Amino acid sequence: MSTSTTGAPSGHGGTGAVLRLVRLDHGTEEARVLREAVVRQRVAPDQRRFVTEAVHTLPQADTDPDRIPFAVVPAGFRPRDRAEALDTCAGFGIVDRRGHLRDLVDTPERAALLRAYYVTPEWQGRGIGRAACSAPVLDPLVAEVAPRATEIVLCVNHANEAGRRTYLAAGFAPTGRDHHDGPSGPQQILSRPMDPGVHGVAGPRDERTENTQ
Ligand SMILES: CC(C)(COP(=O)(O)OP(=O)(O)OC[C@H]1O[C@@H](n2cnc3c(N)ncnc32)[C@H](O)[C@@H]1OP(=O)(O)O)[C@@H](O)C(=O)NCCC(=O)NCCS
Repeated sequence: MSTSTTGAPSGHGGTGAVLRLVRLDHGTEEARVLREAVVRQRVAPDQRRFVTEAVHTLPQADTDPDRIPFAVVPAGFRPRDRAEALDTCAGFGIVDRRGHLRDLVDTPERAALLRAYYVTPEWQGRGIGRAACSAPVLDPLVAEVAPRATEIVLCVNHANEAGRRTYLAAGFAPTGRDHHDGPSGPQQILSRPMDPGVHGVAGPRDERTENTQ
């Protein structure tokens, strides 16, 4: 990898300034090269039971206006071509405004779903997974694309210890409910309230505006 760990988070707090979530539903040059990268990146073979990779989920998101795909990029990097994007794209995820939210929570109209989320193997273990789904980084994007959401929801496989620890460290808590509709076994439903100040910051704005947090 041509990049160093400069800019990668190492602690629990103050992570908002060190990662950017770049929307991949935009026609920017950065989004274009990141899209080329995410469909080539893979998680470790033993992690595939926990997540479906972007090569499959990005095309699905492209056909669903409620799914907003994003790339995780350490702040300070702005990839200009596919090679740079492959080096600097640290992760991928999708914010889903609808999905199967009504099966997961009582007030789906006030929730957004984080799905298909992962950190690439080269960037794992540096605090990026925790930071990218924490309030300072994720909530501005969710507020931008789902202005009515006050809660972020996700499902994690019971056997996915790294995933569970990541989400708990990012402020998510078990809802006490499980989701059983999946090939990988029962999943625990987690949620966390969004930062109440974030809607005033991100606003209900043009939903096509890039999030550069
Ligand atoms: C889960 C995942 C996103 C974590 O990303 P990451 O950048 O490596 O995680 P972080 O470095 O931010 O660590 C977050 C927490 O997970 C823990 N963790 C990370 N890797 C771990 C592992 N292999 N086993 C156990 N715990 C692990 C860390 O210790 C940390 O917990 P702590 O704060 O209690 O110490 C990443 O492992 C991944 O992409 N896994 C495959 C796909 C996946 O499972 N996605 C989630 C689907 S719901």
